[in-house]
This record gives sequence, C-alpha cells and structure tokens, in this order.
Amino acid sequence: MLKGHGGNIYDLAQRLGCHPSEILDMSSNMNPLGPPPDLVTFLQENIKTIALLPEVDANTIVNVFAGRYNIDPEQVIAGNGTTQFIYSIPRVLETKRALIFGPTYADYADACAMHHIPYDNFTAEEPADFEHDIKAASQQIQGHDTIFICNPNNPTGNIIPAADLEQLCKSHADVNFVIDESYLMFVDGSNKQSMIRSTLPNVMVLNSMSKFFRIPGLRIGFLISSPVIIKKFKTYLLPWSVNSLAQIAVQYLMKQTVEVQTFIENTVKFIAQEKDILFKTFKNTSFIKLFPSTTCFILARLYGNLTADSLGNHLAHDRILIRNCANFSGLSDRFIRFSLKTSEINRMFAKKLLARISQEESAGKDEHRTSNVQHRMMNEKANVKQRMMIEEKDEGVR
Ligand SMILES: Cc1ncc(COP(=O)(O)O)c(C=O)c1O
Repeated sequence: MLKGHGGNIYDLAQRLGCHPSEILDMSSNMNPLGPPPDLVTFLQENIKTIALLPEVDANTIVNVFAGRYNIDPEQVIAGNGTTQFIYSIPRVLETKRALIFGPTYADYADACAMHHIPYDNFTAEEPADFEHDIKAASQQIQGHDTIFICNPNNPTGNIIPAADLEQLCKSHADVNFVIDESYLMFVDGSNKQSMIRSTLPNVMVLNSMSKFFRIPGLRIGFLISSPVIIKKFKTYLLPWSVNSLAQIAVQYLMKQTVEVQTFIENTVKFIAQEKDILFKTFKNTSFIKLFPSTTCFILARLYGNLTADSLGNHLAHDRILIRNCANFSGLSDRFIRFSLKTSEINRMFAKKLLARISQEESAGKDEHRTSNVQHRMMNEKANVKQRMMIEEKDEGVR
C-alpha cells in the first residue's frame, strides 16, 4: 500500500510550487543528528561498489549484524528495509487472523490486507495516554495467530517494557509475535528493552537502520527470530534485496568504532534534552496536549477549533510539514505527530505553534465576550417583553 503513509514533502512542495528540499519535514521520524558524518565519507570513498553486483543474500552483513549483537547468524536475515519483511510476514507465517496493537503504523494492517488476511485492532485509549493494558491484551490475543506490536510505538511514543512483552509472548507460545523495534535505539537504555536476544521461538524482531542512522534512502533492515522461522523467510527472499552501498553502510555502522558509539550516545542525550524543553514549553498551554514519548517524535492532541488539517495548512504557509494523524486507526483529525529536529528548528517550531495557539485563545476570548454581550441583550429583550406583558395585564385589570 502506498497511501497509508504520512507527510509527503513531494506533494506539499508541488502544492506550494517549491523544491522538496525547501520543506521543513517535521513529519518524518529521522534522527536530526544523522546520518553519521563519517558514514557519508565512508560511502563516498566506496561509491565504486555500485558498479558491482551486491552479495546476493547479504550474508556478510548478516554475520556482521549477528556479531554486533552477539546472536547466532542463523537467527538473522537482511532485507530492503524492514518493509520487505512486514509485507511478507502474513504469507511466510501463513497467518489466519492477526491482531494489531494500535493506534499504530498502518503497514501491518496493509500487509494483512495485501494477503487478504483478516485482522483486528487492539486499540489503547486516549485517557490511558495510549498505554496498552497488558492483562487485557492477553485476552484479546485469543483467536489470533500473529500479533503486531510496534515498540516503541509509532505514533504514540509508548513503550511496553521488555519484561512484560517477554511474559506475554511466553504465555502464548503457539502465537507468533512481531515486535517492531524501528525506533528503539532512540530510547535511553534501549539495550535492556530490546527483544533481539529473546530465546522464545515465537518472537520476531524487526530492526530498521533507516530511522536512527538516518539512511532511509539506502533501504536496509533486519529480521531476527528463531532459526526455524528465519529459514521460512529465506524461501521468500529476493536476490540482491540489499544494495551494495547499504551493505557497505552496515559494515561501517556495526563496527562499534568510537565515532559510531559517540553518535549513538549523542543522539540519545540530544533527543532526551530536546523533548524535555518542548514538554516544559507546552506544559501549561491550552488547546494542545503532548503525550509522553520515549522516542524521537511526539503525538499531540488539539482542542478548540484547532484540527490537524487547519494547523497543517497554517504551518504549510511557512513550508513546515507535520503529520496529520487522521488516517491512523484509533486516532482522528484532532491528532498530530511531529518529530524532533535541531534545537534551533525545535524552538522555531514551538514558537509558531504557540503563536497559532494564542490566536485561538484570543478568538476564544472574543467568542466568550460576544456570547456574553449576546446573552445580556437577550436577557434585556426578555425583560422588556415581560414588563410589557405585565403592563398589558395591569391595563386589562384596570
Ligand atoms: C514503525 C515503523 N516500522 C517500519 C518502518 C519501515 O522502515 P524501513 O522499511 O525503512 O526499515 C517504518 C517507517 O516509517 C515505521 O514507522
């Protein structure tokens, strides 16, 4: 499915008559510090590899990835982004009925629809800040054989602790669990929250290189599971799924050099700091509520006359794109998502948002004032009418 995705800089640029690079894309969840500068140099030095066929099954980077995370290479498969695996999961697992923990990334539902597989949503509610009730989840799982969980979740930013997930997967041993960890590296202490080293045979973990290392154009992602499940996925693997530059990039990124480690640490620290500043900025602001997020983007609820559409159009004048969450099942036109950028951009964005909100506040006050005046006028009219009726009555008596 090509339509379920969010903010499209190409569409907006066309609408505004500008180049896509002139759009400030607050809708896409990429690392604002990425890609790592040394990676770009490394790719430039190796650009000639595009003249060679890449390794057909990307076996070298499978070994490199497995070595980095200390797991058996038989448990790993590499693909053209995690998207390749999301869309083959229902087919490879021969899913009969899926359950999707929502509101979440639309591609799990789209993957089921592509293979004509029925699915249900297990939707977390707004009053609970979109946190899933794990006890209720256990009941919901009955009657489903494949469960999709995005952890941390896009777009809510919630995370289910690894210990709870492990327990849930363990207590439903005959059900396959797909845990999408595409945004996990942004989370402080992510190692402890990853299911990548789970020994449960019914767990599949998706690991994307696109977001954290900001290389979505290279298209590279991994699936980690039991050797039995990985073997099944291999029967559907397309030759040369991972291109030459992507393979080179993984070799660089998985080496755990000082540069890569520093990049990882700096990112996590930066995201935490920026989130903190934004949350403080909007703490007591009316017309908008930011939901707590463990990762690099924030879900927000709008009130009053503010809708995702109206705010999106307003910001589009300044060539800023936010994610309208109306097409997330379980959300509505009252929700937006924006991702963190550089400090300067975040401040500028907050300022614009606050300016729009203060317009809303003054309009609200005007409305309040107008309705008070109208109310007074109506009261006066009613009083006059009542007085006249009394006078008429009095006259009649007389
Ligand atoms: C939750 C989630 N999973 C997976 C993907 C796909 O990422 P990729 O195919 O680049 O690995 C995305 C992309 O936006 C996403 O948001």
